[in-house]
Amino acid sequence: MRKRTRLLCASALLLLFSAFFLPGTVRHSAEPSPLPADEYRLVSPLTYRYLLNQAGACRDRSPFLVLLVPVAPHQAEARQAVRSTWGAPSRDTLTLFFSGVAQGALLSPLQRLLEKESQQHADIIQLDFLDSYQNLTIKTVMMMQWLAAHCPNASYAMKVDSDIFVNVFHLVQRLRSSPRAGFITGSLIRDGRPRRDPSSKWFLSEALYHEDSFPPYVSGAGYVFSTDLAARISRASRFVRVIPLEDVYVGLCLRVLGVRPAYSLSLPLFRNLFEVRRLEYDRCTFARLIIVNGFKPSELLAVWRDFSTGRADC
Ligand SMILES: *[C@@H]1O[C@H](CO)[C@@H](O)[C@H](O)[C@H]1NC(C)=O
Ligand SMILES: *[C@@H]1O[C@H](CO)[C@@H](O)[C@H](O)[C@H]1NC(C)=O
Repeated sequence: MRKRTRLLCASALLLLFSAFFLPGTVRHSAEPSPLPADEYRLVSPLTYRYLLNQAGACRDRSPFLVLLVPVAPHQAEARQAVRSTWGAPSRDTLTLFFSGVAQGALLSPLQRLLEKESQQHADIIQLDFLDSYQNLTIKTVMMMQWLAAHCPNASYAMKVDSDIFVNVFHLVQRLRSSPRAGFITGSLIRDGRPRRDPSSKWFLSEALYHEDSFPPYVSGAGYVFSTDLAARISRASRFVRVIPLEDVYVGLCLRVLGVRPAYSLSLPLFRNLFEVRRLEYDRCTFARLIIVNGFKPSELLAVWRDFSTGRADC
């Protein structure tokens, strides 16, 4: 009897979940046309050179989940915190850091330190574009191209910033029952609009983007996708003019592909599992979420010490 009730509950949940998890399609009005060569050049794989690469990272294994973490060259402390917490090597996951070059720094001590760190940990990929906030879109497309070229047999990937708390345990568990293709989820933004105020950090001129709204997209703090999308997004980037908002840019590529990002909600309260605000640490609240935003390296280490051992009691 109890078993049957449980079965019924499980099927009802499954139905509800699929309603939120199943990717749909989005309409777009006009057939996209390829970018002029000089515009596509910005994100073309032929434009940049690898200074550091981990070409063999997936040669002998197909990770279930690849964690792709954009970092600036100087963020050694943030990388170390990620390696010691949610990014620690595991059977299911592989963590890789993506960096550009610091201004005028190719021959500097900073670059030599990065090379040394890369030799030690074999987890840093560096391309020769200038590492800047404005260039995050380039970095994101390079991550997609790297994944498609070097780790196409991974099941899922996550683009996640280094100041995020990631509950990899809950994430991996949920992904086991998620779609294996055409799937992307995160903190879904459906009503985004360009900021036309030039003093805004997110300013976007009408010349660069003329529509007055964005297609649905997932916040760049952390989003998860089936690995097939890496190659598809790289191909779509031939049709999408580069804007300096990397998460909106991915949303524009998804529109070209007709892929709709999915919500990730917990039941029964429909709570967003990708928390883009900073929350005060609470072990059992965090145990039910996938990401929480806004952690300094030292805070990440402190929280993880409690979380990794204590979460089982929640
Ligand atoms: C982006 O990177 C390119 C290639 O290194 C560089 O020429 C350009 O100045 C960078 N743009 C910004 C805004 O940082
Ligand atoms: C991915 O899997 C396919 C089929 O199983 C195999 O032929 C291919 O060599 C694998 N590629 C990599 C990069 O592991």
